[in-house]
Amino acid sequence: QALQPCSFVIFGATGNLSSNKLLPALYHLEVKKRIQENMSFIAFSRREWGQEEWLAHMKLSLQSKLGERFDDAVFERFAARFCYVQGELHDPEAYRRLLEVLSRPKCGVCSNVVFYLAIKPTEFGAVINNLDAVGLNKPRGLHRVVVEKPFGEDIESARMLNELLHRHFDEEQVFRIDHYLGKETVQNLLVFRFANTLIEPLWNRNFIDHVQITVAEEVGIEKRADYYDKAGALRDMLQNHLMQLLTVVAMEPPPAMEADALRDEKVKVLRSIRPIAKRAINAHAFRAQYAAGTINGEPVVGYQQEEGVEKNSATETFVAAKFYIDNWRWRGVPFYLRTGKRMPKQMSMIAIRFRHPPQQLFRETSVETIEPNWVILSIQPSESMHMEIHAKQPGLGMETRVIQMNASYRKAHEAPLDAYEALLLDVIEGDRTLFIRFDEVEWSWRVVDPILKYWEQEREFIHTYPAGTWGLHDADRLFDSEDQEWRNEL
Ligand code: BG6
Repeated sequence: QALQPCSFVIFGATGNLSSNKLLPALYHLEVKKRIQENMSFIAFSRREWGQEEWLAHMKLSLQSKLGERFDDAVFERFAARFCYVQGELHDPEAYRRLLEVLSRPKCGVCSNVVFYLAIKPTEFGAVINNLDAVGLNKPRGLHRVVVEKPFGEDIESARMLNELLHRHFDEEQVFRIDHYLGKETVQNLLVFRFANTLIEPLWNRNFIDHVQITVAEEVGIEKRADYYDKAGALRDMLQNHLMQLLTVVAMEPPPAMEADALRDEKVKVLRSIRPIAKRAINAHAFRAQYAAGTINGEPVVGYQQEEGVEKNSATETFVAAKFYIDNWRWRGVPFYLRTGKRMPKQMSMIAIRFRHPPQQLFRETSVETIEPNWVILSIQPSESMHMEIHAKQPGLGMETRVIQMNASYRKAHEAPLDAYEALLLDVIEGDRTLFIRFDEVEWSWRVVDPILKYWEQEREFIHTYPAGTWGLHDADRLFDSEDQEWRNEL
């Protein structure tokens, strides 16, 4: 308890991330009584508001996000923890005000502080330098800084950002967050692989034909053009969330479930990813942008018409890529990754297709050719596991059919835990297991950098897909063989 922080400063408190993820997660921790009594929150934002306006804004935002789950009594308790600090991220004066608020009895009961950078990556530097300027990086107590992804915008800028962080903070103080690691299914993948003897012997190139990792979203870019138009899907999702999923699928069992043991194994996977040569980029990566279309029967505008997007922008909102992991376990097995906004439905999953049996004894009696086995780990919207295997069709003859075994991880009475809830608690408690080490970031940029550089030179043309459809058939060119195709259903 003594080591736990007492103040939690949110930079970008009125931004999209804060409203969509952080505040609801902290509120839920309040509901579950997981936040210690003396902990305070400081909302830092440029909006010219006072305390009352901030609280009114937060209330509205939580009410619209949580609907019936919003509870006035809990909110009262939660709101009482907040102090609002108005200021520009670049203004040193604002940090002096922050320092002053942190020394008040209400918001500065003790000197352990978490600084959460829920802001655009281009602003990280300003905050870190300014915290230093007022001495807020030199802890009287224990200080931690949480940095959101994407960490940098390419390998060079990531290194510079890391150097900057290390000039002011020790590595033990830095928490590089990737909220996909906080998702139940992702952690369950570790349990599924390493707590069972049934799966792991098959988890390699001898039995697995290929792996597909899909993160499909219905939402567009929301009100984030300012950030997204410069980032695009490769930086926003693939370099971090999807790459992290890939490492957890492909890693070797770690010697212990400890932060560095786990991260060492993930780095080994990233280091083994075969670099993509410039001439092969088109065979390994595909990008596209949504045009106007329909989502759930409602018309939606195209990316180019979204507020704040640059005219003729060639930023991708859909990306698909193929990677090979050149190591003993995975050599020759393609890993297909794809993610997109304005897809027909929200669906994130890891789908593993197994090889055909060596002989198809039942082919003659089956109506179709034998389907291969699949193991699918669904991340969203349901958290569940599916296995497709063959069974005999009841009756005369020896025809087979595919049966699906479905299992949800959660029992009906168990409340879901949001990824941010889990990770924010880890920050507060100082557990770094599910946070990213810099070498992971660096190796991951090394993998995607050639694609980024290539696309930067080809800025004039980008494929488009109507919102509400599954990207384009051109993305199929990534497949190694004709019998491989994207799985769009569980
Ligand atoms: C964020 C991206 O990291 O993840 C967003 O910046 C994306 O663009 C979001 O919408 C998806 O997260 P989740 O948890 O809703 O799948």
